[in-house]
Amino acid sequence: MIVAKTLAEFAQAYSNLENKADIGFVPTMGALHEGHISLVKESAKRCSHTVVSIFVNPTQFNNKQDLETYPRTLEADCKLLEECAVDIVFAPRVIDIYPQEDTRVFDLGGLDNYGEGPRRPGHFNGVAQVVTRLFDIVKPAYAFFGEKDFQQVAIIKYFVKDLNYPLTIVPCSIIRESDGLAKSSRNTLLTPAQRAAAPHIYKTLCKAVELKGKYSPKEVAAILAKEIDENPELETEYIEIIDADTLRPIENWNDAENLRLWCAVYARPVRLIDNIGL
Ligand code: PAF
Repeated sequence: MIVAKTLAEFAQAYSNLENKADIGFVPTMGALHEGHISLVKESAKRCSHTVVSIFVNPTQFNNKQDLETYPRTLEADCKLLEECAVDIVFAPRVIDIYPQEDTRVFDLGGLDNYGEGPRRPGHFNGVAQVVTRLFDIVKPAYAFFGEKDFQQVAIIKYFVKDLNYPLTIVPCSIIRESDGLAKSSRNTLLTPAQRAAAPHIYKTLCKAVELKGKYSPKEVAAILAKEIDENPELETEYIEIIDADTLRPIENWNDAENLRLWCAVYARPVRLIDNIGL
C-alpha cells in the first residue's frame, strides 16, 4: 500500500498499477470507520485495484467550525487500510486538488432542492467539485459511496450520467453500531451523554413502518420529530418522507413507488443524518 501525499506521488504510484482499466475508488474525508471499510472491501472484491482518497474538502463545508473540528486521523486511517487490499491511499494537499479557486457550478438536476440542499447552501456543488476532480485524477471504473449520505449518492449518480463519466457508481448499505446508530466520523465528536442518546434517532425512525397505515406522511414525520425531541440531548432539524428517485417530499403514501425517510438531528453542535427505506 502506497500513501501518496501529493499529485506527483499519486502519479508515480498510479503508473505502477497493472490494470488501470479496473480501478475501484473509495473517496473519503478520513476518520475512517467500519462504514468506510465496508466500501473498501466491496471495491477489493470487485476490482483489480483499490484507491482510497482521504481529503477533507473545504468547498463542501458551509460551516467554518464544522471544517475546523472535522476529525483528522491520517495515521490511524492508514493503519486500518493496511489490513484491506488497498493499492494507493491518496491524501493530497488542498493545492493538489484546487491549484486555483474552483468556480464551477454544476447542474444537479434539482436534486439539491430538498433535504440537505437548502440547509447547507453550496454543499453539494462542493461535493461535485471535489468528486469530479478526484475522478479525473484516479480514473476509476467503479466508485463506492455509502447510503448514509442518501442524497449525495443520488446527486453523484446524476452528474456522473450528465457529464458522461465512464464509471459505475456503487451505493452501499448503511453500517450501524450494535445499538442502531449509523456509523459516522462525526460520532467521535459526541459527548458521552449525546452518544448514549443518539441511538434514539434510528429507533424512532423505525416506528414509521407501523405508523404508515394510520397517518399521512407529514403527520408521521411530525410524530417522529416530536418523539426524537423528547430526548433533551437531541433536536430534530427535519424529518421528511420522500420519493427515493426524485428526492421530493411526498404528500400521500401512493405518490411514489420507492419511499425513503430521511432526517437531520442536532446533538449540538454535532449534526447527525440518517435515513431508512420504507
Ligand atoms: O461522503 C464524503 O465523505 C464526502 O462528501 C466525499 C464524497 C468524500 C467528498 O468529499
